[in-house]
Amino acid sequence: MQNELETRLTEAVIARLGDDADPRFRRIMQGLIRHVHDFVREVELTETEWFEAIKFLTATGQKCDDKRQEFILLSDVLGVSMLVDAVNHRASGGSTETTVLGPFFVHGAREIANGDDMAAGWKGEPTLVSGRVLSVEGRPLAGALLDLWQSNSEGSYDVQLADTGGKQLRAKLRTDAEGRFGFRTILPTSYPVPTDGPVGLVLNHMGRHPMRPAHLHFMVSAPGHETLVTHLFVKGDPYLESDVVFGVKDSLIVDFRRSESQAEAQKAGLKAPFYSASYDFVLRPAGEAKQHSARSAGDAVKS
Ligand SMILES: [Fe+2]
Repeated sequence: MQNELETRLTEAVIARLGDDADPRFRRIMQGLIRHVHDFVREVELTETEWFEAIKFLTATGQKCDDKRQEFILLSDVLGVSMLVDAVNHRASGGSTETTVLGPFFVHGAREIANGDDMAAGWKGEPTLVSGRVLSVEGRPLAGALLDLWQSNSEGSYDVQLADTGGKQLRAKLRTDAEGRFGFRTILPTSYPVPTDGPVGLVLNHMGRHPMRPAHLHFMVSAPGHETLVTHLFVKGDPYLESDVVFGVKDSLIVDFRRSESQAEAQKAGLKAPFYSASYDFVLRPAGEAKQHSARSAGDAVKS
């Protein structure tokens, strides 16, 4: 049975919040203190378990550097990233649905021209991705910027590999006057999130697999519009129903059509067989939701 101190302590900690604290910060800290205290009471956390949690969080921090973001990974696998996404992007109103940023975004990818290959030199199934960027009224957005990133055919991002010679399998691309974009790449594959750190150990303890279904990452921005952070998932992937980070939305699953036609392939500067996918991204007007501020692993280390 709880004694008086157990409940009084929560109010005592909240009462110490200064009157001059920023109101939003105050609200967040009140909620955090209440929920953490409730959690300790609910599971009757033992001192050993509490110390294990401290060791886990310490190890999570120690695993982070300018390329590895173990805290984003932790947030992702616990569904917190998707929950933050959900409460910030409630009504899509015809705009493209959002999903997690993930831990592998990097600023400063090179800009390529429409039709270029963002995977030059990487082995994999040749793939053509094209589409348009539109406003919710269906107006083409010329000069919209697409930031693209993906894993290689073995499921690794450049930041996970040694000696890739800089940023790889990443690019920036601008839409043309009709809001169109197109680029060549390799077909993405399903991959495990990094399991060589503390988050991998916890996933294993929870009896969960570490797999993400195959996807391409997109961050799409245009003046006067909310920046869209999303993925396109490959239809038919075996992990669409059990994405380790809970990021799949039906509207983001796309048919990557396989073609054997040499003539079709040549038109795109590819060799058959190749895959092609088409998708139109629809951006909301700015100000409807809080602007997404993309954070890379490096940002978290610097700030
Ligand atoms: Fe990814």
